[in-house]
Amino acid sequence: IQHTLDELKRQAALKAVDYVQDGMVIGLGTGSTAKHMILALGERIRRGLKIRGVPTSQETADLARSQGIALIESDNTWTLDLAIDGADQVDPQLCLIKGGGGALLKEKIVAAAARQLIIVVDHTKRVPMLGNSFPLPIEVVPFGWGNTAKQLEAIEGKAVLREREGRPFRTEAGHFILDLHVGSITDPADLEIRLNQVPGVVETGLFVGRTSLLIVGTPEGVVLQTA
Ligand code: A5P
Repeated sequence: IQHTLDELKRQAALKAVDYVQDGMVIGLGTGSTAKHMILALGERIRRGLKIRGVPTSQETADLARSQGIALIESDNTWTLDLAIDGADQVDPQLCLIKGGGGALLKEKIVAAAARQLIIVVDHTKRVPMLGNSFPLPIEVVPFGWGNTAKQLEAIEGKAVLREREGRPFRTEAGHFILDLHVGSITDPADLEIRLNQVPGVVETGLFVGRTSLLIVGTPEGVVLQTA
């Protein structure tokens, strides 16, 4: 059978939902893969599962509500049993590039608050080395963004302001995104630290040492890799 990528994402997302247990507080990721996960959670909720969720975007919040997932609306403190999210690229050490959809800031905060992070992808997102075929999204404060871009470029690569309909793309927090074309990222941990030191950088799309479990949808079936 010919599987579309979306179907591979769906099968992997279904597997991720197996890890959700009654009473858990779940971090809900953003994107087309996370959408399958939320729909699958909705089905389990209709069969009696009781969970609460913290959404990583407005889009996810709306979908989760439509699926009957009780959302924690407080911005204060939460402890998450589990977060489930997609990614744009995954390397063999389970380091990630995220932020293709612009939700990286909340996604990273949620990942950091979760006891476990499950990442769900289709097989095309597995790469031997991050960065080559996907620029690294960096969320920056609009004030002086061009200066921030220059300092990022002094570290590595070319920074391109993300636009939508001819205007700068705005994140939910009102920031801009610079897509940094860095080529091969040989040391993600070191690069994350160096980029975060540039004034104006709010957060980078590099997720290092955060993934507990990777679930990959492949044409041969769903494959798991633990950290
Ligand atoms: C959102 O900002 C991203 O981090 C997403 O998690 C990532 O882009 C994956 O999205 P898809 O599941 O739609 O590929």
